Amino acid sequence: MSKTEWRVGVAGLGTVGGGLLNFLSDRAGFAPAGGKAVVTGVSARSRSRPRPFDISNLPWFDDPVELAKSPDIDIFVELIGGSDGPAKAAVEAALNVGKPVVTANKALIAEHGAELAALAESKGVPLLFEAAVMGGTPAVKMLREAMVGDDVKSVAGILNGTCNYILSEMDSSGRSFADVLSEAQRLGYAEADPTMDVGGFDAAHKISILAALAFGCAPNYAAAEIEGIDQVALLDIQLAKDLGYKIKLIASANRSDEGVLVRVHPTLVAQSHPLAQAGGALNALFIEGTRIGRIFIQGPGAGSGPTAAAVAADIADVMTAANRPVFQAPATSLTPFTPVDPARNLSRAYLRFLVKDEPGVIAAVSETLAEAGVSIESFLQKPVENAEGVPIVLTTHAVAESVLTAAIDRIANLSVVLERPRLLRIARI
Ligand code: HSE
Repeated sequence: MSKTEWRVGVAGLGTVGGGLLNFLSDRAGFAPAGGKAVVTGVSARSRSRPRPFDISNLPWFDDPVELAKSPDIDIFVELIGGSDGPAKAAVEAALNVGKPVVTANKALIAEHGAELAALAESKGVPLLFEAAVMGGTPAVKMLREAMVGDDVKSVAGILNGTCNYILSEMDSSGRSFADVLSEAQRLGYAEADPTMDVGGFDAAHKISILAALAFGCAPNYAAAEIEGIDQVALLDIQLAKDLGYKIKLIASANRSDEGVLVRVHPTLVAQSHPLAQAGGALNALFIEGTRIGRIFIQGPGAGSGPTAAAVAADIADVMTAANRPVFQAPATSLTPFTPVDPARNLSRAYLRFLVKDEPGVIAAVSETLAEAGVSIESFLQKPVENAEGVPIVLTTHAVAESVLTAAIDRIANLSVVLERPRLLRIARI
């Protein structure tokens, strides 16, 4: 007999929790399988904190673990955040008593996804996390379900809205990273502690999850190579523009015969590419399948309404008894994650050198590159008024990272080079 009511417990009442409560009370009758979803328990750090939504009539739990185990809920929704601590304890508690879990917690899934998937599947209950990646834009179900009939070769995209906002603002307003970040913090677009976002860690959590879904391997956040945007100079944004590129924080995962390479770094993307045109705080993703070919999606990666919509979609999956493995395949048959050494990775590169403006400098730089086996594709020298040196910028043909970094080390030691050369990769997508 189908249920007439699905009792939902929500732990974490921040932006997304509020959005979910609003949605479920506005849509009193969210009932994709006939029975409707009703919130029957909430938990958060503080009960009395002022909130733009009313929780006075909802049963309160001081401890999210108690809410997770409560006999008065059928579905546990975890919106606390953080890879460990109360979020993990509560999710484990819910799964252990056989309750379906819906979470928006990318850190938890990226760092403990394989063990939690094994637990959920051993208990025969779903563990769903559509909202963990790209907020309201459906990337998780697309890879896990719609693309399971293909062999995905690569995924690459803009997975952090804060970084995209900062880079887009630097580009359009000509302001520095520090200026734009402090304005974004004042306006509430960036966190008071922006490390997870600007350090690339949030995007790395998300791409680690997408890699697992795309390639049928266990998520392995520890293997991700991560560089954030805090060292992106306005000068590089402007010089990249002169060369026909925008700088974006690109998170990518590629599968080859050797294994899987997961990386996050600031990347030059051709201005005509759809990823370069995803401005502001948008998220965007390219997926390349062996048979389906290329797919591009773009949309909001955060925000109360969009992210709560993704949580609600997962609640709907529980209510409709959708039954899928947590990742692409059952936890017991996920392939081990074999990391590829990034030093072997081939990519085109953008190099910026600050050099003394004197005869023979360009020859010295290009000779060193030639000796190291790095082939130059384009070259630009752009005097900057009142600057101590002159920036020279070049792009290379595809070259192994190890060859490139060895060449950069040698150039950095030339007496005419005034500061450590700047390396940015050029997107292959
Ligand atoms: N802080 C994230 C972003 C949203 O800026 O995209 C939540 O993952």
